[in-house]
Amino acid sequence: MTHRIAVIPGDGIGQEVTPAAVEVLDALDIEFDFVEGDAGDATKAETGEALPQDTRELARGADATLFGAAGETAADVILPLREVVGSFANVRPAVSYPGLDAVQPDTDLVFIRENTEGVYSGIESEIADGVTTLTRVITEDASRDIAEFGFEYAETNGYDDVTIAHKANVMRETDGLFLETAEAVAEERGAEYDTALMDALAMHLITHPEDYGVVICPNLAGDMLSDLAAGLVGGLGLLPSANVGSENALFEPVHGSAPDIAGEGVANPTAMILSAAMMLDHLGYGEDGDRVRDATEAVLDAGPRTPDLGGDASTEDVTAAIIERL
Ligand code: NAI
Ligand code: MG
Repeated sequence: MTHRIAVIPGDGIGQEVTPAAVEVLDALDIEFDFVEGDAGDATKAETGEALPQDTRELARGADATLFGAAGETAADVILPLREVVGSFANVRPAVSYPGLDAVQPDTDLVFIRENTEGVYSGIESEIADGVTTLTRVITEDASRDIAEFGFEYAETNGYDDVTIAHKANVMRETDGLFLETAEAVAEERGAEYDTALMDALAMHLITHPEDYGVVICPNLAGDMLSDLAAGLVGGLGLLPSANVGSENALFEPVHGSAPDIAGEGVANPTAMILSAAMMLDHLGYGEDGDRVRDATEAVLDAGPRTPDLGGDASTEDVTAAIIERL
């Protein structure tokens, strides 16, 4: 069976790390049909649109999508792309790897971020000169979906600690509903869980990440807390993510287009390659996903490493080393 994969490299280092992930996938004994699509700043400059219709169709029709990064147009690309694949859950693991100088070496966290609403609903306006507003949308349906997904993920992947992040003491209606719904899901499932105020949680994650496992979050909290966790484990170059929908899914590194290093061939391909490993899990190739993760981990430990991790290797060196270990 051939899997049709939409490959959207985007801008900046997206153009460097996406081919690296495709090379790794190509080295496996699985049949992929990779079809490339354009999106991002350069595409907008050329066509007037950051996410052309044919790229949308490509992602909609594919078995899965790999996305690199976009630059200034990121919101115009990634938000509609997540919508196109019907994704409601953003899965962001943050794991410390042996051999790396992690701030917190015992970190093994997975953020399950609600991906469709909250403050990213896009309902924002200038109501008067110098006065702007934003509407934060939280629905019972979306809260239920993300909580179900989070508890299921914890169970399937062997995480004992599940934390529901919220700020229901202040945002009583919106996060009140989020919390109440997520707690009801936990009780229906007979699952153990904790709740945490998202601001206090930020501090505890820094001092005691080992106390946490799966963290179920509203949209913005998940965005911020997962970047915070990236700092704990060694930087944005390491963090993969999955945008999972009921039908389709999109896999992308947490990082952006990194204009400061783009074009130099030194971007760390780890986050993108680990995103491809998450895609393998999603397509039912969990063993191959593990092989890719093991090979990547071994290379992080033994080198070669890119400059963000203190090495002097290129993207291509690291990719070749990972493929050799597969
Ligand atoms: P960024 O993630 O692109 O870069 C932040 C810092 O981390 C930079 O110093 C960069 O060199 C470093 N970095 C990131 N990924 C790396 C990698 N794989 N290897 C080595 N170093 C890496 O975030 P920034 O600077 O806030 O945004 C740059 C552009 O990216 C902006 O135009 C922003 O809109 C866009 N962006 C796009 C995202 C997406 O497409 N999903 C997500 C975040 C930002
Ligand atoms: Mg972010």
